[in-house]
Amino acid sequence: MRAILAAVIVVYASLVVATAQVRERDNGWMVPPNASAKQNPLANRPDAAAGGAKLFQERCATCHGADARGTEDAPDLSQADVQAQTDGALFWKISTGNSRSGMPAFSFLPELQRWQLVLHLRQR
Ligand code: HEC
Repeated sequence: MRAILAAVIVVYASLVVATAQVRERDNGWMVPPNASAKQNPLANRPDAAAGGAKLFQERCATCHGADARGTEDAPDLSQADVQAQTDGALFWKISTGNSRSGMPAFSFLPELQRWQLVLHLRQR
């Protein structure tokens, strides 16, 4: 009887750990691999970044700061862990947002405007 009880406790404990791990991954705002691999169609158009800068002031600066260096509401987008992400990953994050942490979704902006924002972020 004791052995059965011990076995039940072990199974239960491993379930709790497994659930916690899944939950942690969900909170990680995971970018799907196919979205991450997308190329910026404006990659060879550095002139398009000026439009991105204007959009950034209109839509993003209130939270991320005029220079994108972050405020108490939102992270610094010039940091290495942001800049290390692919253009496609940044595009996906701007498009889908993260309702759990307060990053709005900007899928309502035309795609090219979202890519302009990515270009602008690369200049931070
Ligand atoms: C209402 C406040 C708010 C506005 C407006 C906003 N953001 Fe954010 N943003 C956030 C928060 C909060 C996070 C952190 C989300 C997280 O890590 O879960 C974030 C995260 C991000 C990230 C991901 C950073 C990382 O760590 O990977 C990018 C990229 C980003 N924002 C770009 C933008 C752009 C571009 C705009 C304008 C089009 C914008 N944001 C507007 C609040 C905002």
